[in-house]
Amino acid sequence: MIKTTVTKLGFKGDGSVIIDDVEYFVPYVIEGEEVEVEIDNNQKDRAILKSIIKKSDKRIEPICPLFTVCGACKLQHVSNYQDFKKEYLLKTLKPLCPENIKINDFTFIGHNTRRRALFNLVDGKLGFFKEKSNDIVEVKSCPLLRNEINNFISGMEFPNITATVVVTLVNNGIDVNISSKKPIECTKKLSNVFKKALRLTINEVEIFNKEKPLIEFDGIKIPFPAGSFLQPSVDGEMALKASVMKFVPPEKKIADIFCGMGTFTVPLSKISKEVHGFEAFRLGVKALNDLKIKNIKAFERDLFKNPLTAKELDSFDVIVMDPPRTGATAISQNFKNTKKINQIVYISCNPSTFVRDAKYITEAGFKIVEIDVVDQFTYTHHLELIANIVRA
Ligand SMILES: C[S@@+](CC[C@H](N)C(=O)[O-])C[C@H]1O[C@@H](n2cnc3c(N)ncnc32)[C@H](O)[C@@H]1O
Repeated sequence: MIKTTVTKLGFKGDGSVIIDDVEYFVPYVIEGEEVEVEIDNNQKDRAILKSIIKKSDKRIEPICPLFTVCGACKLQHVSNYQDFKKEYLLKTLKPLCPENIKINDFTFIGHNTRRRALFNLVDGKLGFFKEKSNDIVEVKSCPLLRNEINNFISGMEFPNITATVVVTLVNNGIDVNISSKKPIECTKKLSNVFKKALRLTINEVEIFNKEKPLIEFDGIKIPFPAGSFLQPSVDGEMALKASVMKFVPPEKKIADIFCGMGTFTVPLSKISKEVHGFEAFRLGVKALNDLKIKNIKAFERDLFKNPLTAKELDSFDVIVMDPPRTGATAISQNFKNTKKINQIVYISCNPSTFVRDAKYITEAGFKIVEIDVVDQFTYTHHLELIANIVRA
């Protein structure tokens, strides 16, 4: 056992300790705490917390009894959680000179708001994985999830299978999509377990569909395709939408790149001349086109294999782009050869890949004017930002 002091919280919310001139990361500690740790022989650069000798005055009671057992949350134990998030963002944005950008106050999304839970089902136990492991922690209720989801899973008993279970609270009830690499035989049992759902799909094949699951964007109801992307909470979605609508001027021709099933496309269509959505998820594109909104056209397209070219980017007035965590390097690089396009609204759930892409965009002659930040990944180090970027 080694006694040491936590020097700082690192980017991912883990504490940093130096042992024999080597940096190790320890989860669930706070800067300044004296701790006893053991070097983790199974994971490079990691140490296991054995005890806290001297607690920080910033340590608070976590809201969840499973905190530190379940690996989903990292930062329930710090009173200055919001400061951590702000510092993390400024450090990440450093290569972009954040002092020259208007960074607005963060929107923090509260507890009991997440409408989508990605559970793991391992040998009949439903829950989340332990930190950096595939060991399951059984979860009966999670303070971050909407109560409707907690009530839905309460008391359920599962067959002895291993799969991923995505539970989504939609407008008219609960939708469940189970996926597994191995074929699932016990569909009857699963139908019984999830009988209160509107629909059950296994590997996106419908097992039952009592009522079409619907979501709503800006008052327009859309049938929700199994496996579709959805922002994690309605509150988060509203905050992101408000920023997009604040930055995009009216009466323009917009490209909504990585449009999903239209979270921004639908509201943008109300103020824009035309909105073209681009997205790989076929059923999302279909759902959007099926709305038959006159000024929306959605296109199925793999944007990594076939990114929008400079000429295509130049055919729009404003580019709205919301890529997955990996970002959108090829499209960002293509701005170098554009001449007409004047504005980009970049929504990112990964500030690190945003910085990489924004470097390409700023080197192409654009400048980041303003950034809104939405913390919709409460108690993790993840953040969502919306950047308004214009031609310099
Ligand atoms: C962060 S989500 C944003 C979706 C949408 N803007 C929203 O807010 O609901 C990223 C989207 O990128 C899509 N996507 C992932 N890989 C893609 C690819 N190679 N080509 C096109 N779209 C892709 C996903 O299906 C998902 O809808």
